Amino acid sequence: MNWSTMWLCALLTAPITLAADGQAAYDKECKRCHGAKGEGHPKIASMLKVEILHLGSADVQKKSDAQLKKIIVEGTGKMKPVKGLSAKDTSDVVALIRTMKK
Ligand code: HEC
Repeated sequence: MNWSTMWLCALLTAPITLAADGQAAYDKECKRCHGAKGEGHPKIASMLKVEILHLGSADVQKKSDAQLKKIIVEGTGKMKPVKGLSAKDTSDVVALIRTMKK
């Protein structure tokens, strides 16, 4: 493997590693309501009588990283604040949400 292919590999794997960091936190804190791929859990949505947008939808993706972090930390509408994520976990989860873009 020469230097340029190594560079390419590093470039290609970097975002995946980032997202993988957020995966554990997402699985622990978000998946039960938002589904494995951000699709939203229909049962939770009907229980709370609310629509859970797909995290990859344009409406969610158009929010800034700061807005998404705020939603996680402070909650939104029927979603309660998520406690127990470090600032890094929160950023990693936001990075993961970016990979869910449709
Ligand atoms: C107990 C269930 C629950 C958990 C856990 C949860 N959410 Fe939510 N989330 C909701 C519900 C319900 C809504 C819709 C709120 C509303 O519109 O009233 C929502 C909305 C959102 C939205 C905004 C979508 C929109 O409607 O604009 C984002 C982004 C989001 N959640 C991210 C996360 C992330 C990231 C985590 C984990 C760190 C998480 N949520 C954990 C239930 C949950």
